[in-house]
Amino acid sequence: MVVRENFSLKKLNTFGIDAFAKYYVELDTLTGFQEILSDNAYKTEQKLILGGGSNILFTKDFNGVVLKNKLKGITVVDETADHYFIKAGAGEVWHEFVMHCVTNNYAGLENLSLIPGCVGASPMQNIGAYGVEIKDCFHELEALRIEDLTLHTFSNSDCKFGYRESVFKHEYKNQFIITSVTYRLNKRPVLNTSYGAIEKELEAMGVAAPSIQTISKAVCNIRSSKLPDPAQIGNAGSFFKNPEITADKHKLLKEKFPELVSYSLAGGNYKLAAGWLIEQCGWKGKTFGDAGVHKLQALVLVNYNNATGNEIYQLSQKVMDSVKEKFGVDLEREVNII
Ligand code: FAD
Ligand code: EPU
Repeated sequence: MVVRENFSLKKLNTFGIDAFAKYYVELDTLTGFQEILSDNAYKTEQKLILGGGSNILFTKDFNGVVLKNKLKGITVVDETADHYFIKAGAGEVWHEFVMHCVTNNYAGLENLSLIPGCVGASPMQNIGAYGVEIKDCFHELEALRIEDLTLHTFSNSDCKFGYRESVFKHEYKNQFIITSVTYRLNKRPVLNTSYGAIEKELEAMGVAAPSIQTISKAVCNIRSSKLPDPAQIGNAGSFFKNPEITADKHKLLKEKFPELVSYSLAGGNYKLAAGWLIEQCGWKGKTFGDAGVHKLQALVLVNYNNATGNEIYQLSQKVMDSVKEKFGVDLEREVNII
């Protein structure tokens, strides 16, 4: 176990922010985690668990220990007539894990292809895309409690998943290190092509009878066509959540803005496309030094080169203020701010 001091995190966050960690350590065993967490030299330091750094904005240096999770391994831990139970180490790269499942015909995660980051972060905000969220096939996870180094198992209901939400962002914030996640995947695929863009893409690909492999490919194609690749332009995907409003407020907004992009939710509320709201406020494609709003997806804030975390954060505040002023709608940041 090598603990580095004053370590640059620039290459370890997809925004490419040049923040420094007071201490930095990479861990590929559970005992490694237990060792550092019980070491008196670091006990009182703040801790930050880092996966792929694709949902974090550093607005300052991290004055504590950054623990880079490198726990690996993918195994079939159980099987029933209908399902495989696949357990993956938290440090596995999410897309590689999805490709492993797609290749082996373990169905359920194909719509979540090409999402950056690691398996361990997937339950943090119940990652979702193209009509699927991980909660749809999440079985359980194991996590180490930082306070007393005990291992705990969390079931699907324990995690209290919601839209970009889980118990780990609220009552258990900063208390657990997720060490592995087990997914319950289908032997007989239930294909989900309901998200309009998938059907169009499958048609363009000339696919008449979709499979989990062709759906995965279609999702990768769509994502690559509109989301910036962090290897080229720093970003953390959607910077804000799509806001939810009541039916009454939706009616008033729709009267004033007939083009409003919205989706009705079970229960009567509506979800608004934050990208549309931000675009209508004139932000799409705007740059301020090296910070900007992406030209193809207004929900994505970008670092073209050497923007600071604070510059991105200030820009996000201006975007939120203008959406509030024009539409009376509060945007909420999706990205974790450090
Ligand atoms: P990190 O950024 O490293 O960490 C995120 C948070 O989780 C931090 O608070 C961190 O401390 C905590 N954390 C990480 N690992 C652990 C662990 N093992 N135990 C405890 N806490 C942990 N998200 C979606 O939901 N849908 C999308 O479609 C999507 N598209 C994206 C597209 C792009 C181009 C980018 C850059 C991001 C996108 N994201 C999307 C956001 C991001 O990919 C996900 O949130 C992803 O799960 C983050 O994983 P990570 O390993 O990079 O987490
Ligand atoms: N739109 C605009 N202008 C824009 C962007 C979007 O008008 O600049 C409108 C369009 O009408 C479009 C609609 O918004 O049809 C929805 O856009 P898109 O399909 O790109 O999805 P999104 O709502 O912007 C969400 C997730 C993404 C996820 C996609 C696909 C959130 C916050 N974002 O984006 O997740 O990949 O759907 O399912 O829910 C992420 O979380 O980082 C992320 C990228």
